[in-house]
Amino acid sequence: GRVLALHGPNLNLLGTREPGHYGLTTLSDIHRAMEARAQAEGVVLETFQSNHEGQLIDRVQAAASEEIDFIVINPAGYTHTSVALRDALAAVDIPYVEVHLSNIHAREPFRQHSYFSDRAAGVICGLGAYGYLAALEFALLRLRDR
Ligand code: DQA
Repeated sequence: GRVLALHGPNLNLLGTREPGHYGLTTLSDIHRAMEARAQAEGVVLETFQSNHEGQLIDRVQAAASEEIDFIVINPAGYTHTSVALRDALAAVDIPYVEVHLSNIHAREPFRQHSYFSDRAAGVICGLGAYGYLAALEFALLRLRDR
């Protein structure tokens, strides 16, 4: 099986970016932990972060021909704006879990709408970096059940 972890804008700054909201764990820490879990289950983990909407869309489109089975995605700021990234996920029809480090429901009203949640297998928010591992665990479960 193959899982893609996809991260939107500013998540390359994890560790230093607004640690009160996003914690002190870096994106490479998160990828290391995910990689260890995936490897233990014989699953290949691909990772991609971009600050550019079009690059994220291109990565989702490519996932279809790479036989990616599951996507763990934090669309970051694009959560609340991007019809186009949502459409890309619908086009490839790969199941995904939406992850947010912070509890978006406890923050500004504009963060409470997501263009991704209604099509997600599930949504995790507010659990910090652990949310990515929880999402990956769910993906591994799904892959095991096939
Ligand atoms: C975020 C929440 C978004 O509202 C914000 O724009 C982000 C990160 C999170 O992980 O909590 O960039 O997706």
